[in-house]
Amino acid sequence: MGDSKLTPDSKPVSDSGHAGADSAETDLSELTETMAEIAAAEPPEELLESQEATSPGCPSEPIICFSHVSISFDDRPVLEDISFSVERGQTLCILGRSGVGKSVSLRLLMGFLKPDSGSICVEGREIVSMSEAELMAIRKRVTMVFQNGALFDSLSVRENVSFPLRERGGLDEDQLRQIVDRLIGLVGADDVVDALPASLSTGRKRAVAMARALAAQPEVVLYDEPTTMVDPIIARRLGNLIQRLKHQLGFTSIVVTHDMRFAERLADTVLFLDQGRARYFGPLAGFLASKDPHVQQFLTLDAYELPSV
Ligand SMILES: Nc1ncnc2c1ncn2[C@@H]1O[C@H](COP(=O)(O)OP(=O)(O)O)[C@@H](O)[C@H]1O
Ligand SMILES: [Mg+2]
Repeated sequence: MGDSKLTPDSKPVSDSGHAGADSAETDLSELTETMAEIAAAEPPEELLESQEATSPGCPSEPIICFSHVSISFDDRPVLEDISFSVERGQTLCILGRSGVGKSVSLRLLMGFLKPDSGSICVEGREIVSMSEAELMAIRKRVTMVFQNGALFDSLSVRENVSFPLRERGGLDEDQLRQIVDRLIGLVGADDVVDALPASLSTGRKRAVAMARALAAQPEVVLYDEPTTMVDPIIARRLGNLIQRLKHQLGFTSIVVTHDMRFAERLADTVLFLDQGRARYFGPLAGFLASKDPHVQQFLTLDAYELPSV
């Protein structure tokens, strides 16, 4: 145990890894290897149990399914009769104006909020009636990258990313450090491994949050406005990483965004929320070609919108 056995390989990359958005495209095999190493670590029993319990009987069953979901706050309806589903390995983009209920949808999916009516299934299991303990198991499989990163303030970047791996167990200190440093390298944060979150820019915090989410080896990753308030290079890098997670590792993603350019790059399917309703749910191409005036207005306005701050 401890750092005494560190090999040169486990040192953070300092001279080549962190600079450009395009370095993300050169380390393809590294991502696959890193995730395989995490998977090879002995999984704790409760994880095996939850995998057994949730393994779908039918492989074509959607991994996520919202069915007629409604929720109000103080008698004000926010989501009304929302239905959509996400197939395994696909990316759904949730689009819509500010305040329309995009973040609420993600919080419902994590079980942080309960709907007033309707059903929400993850891998075929209804989560609305689940206990907090059962939801904790779901949250290991469906992880959220929060807008503000939601990192532990008193822990360094390295310790933040280590956290899910320590919780999971099965790795010695050397393995853990190597995996963590590689995950940090993948998101381009290797020059800040020892920094505390407070000293990082929003984009960096989000990149580190993404590395931490990956360390938990989830099935589904939820991103809430990943490109808001980050510079274009980081935005591009985050976009690349989301795509590579999908294509190389078959990750399922839900990306909340009002950035249409970003959605066009990533989305297989689109859910467009408007005034509490699912105004459109279906393939990206159908959304872009939609004649619905609400969709057209959203697309037209988006083309002129200044980046939000
Ligand atoms: N816990 C809450 N209590 C009361 N109102 C809430 C709560 N969470 C969200 N809301 C309201 O629900 C609406 C949708 O919020 P949100 O999902 O955050 O919008 P966005 O689409 O911008 O992510 C907003 O009007 C917000 O004020
Ligand atoms: Mg939001």
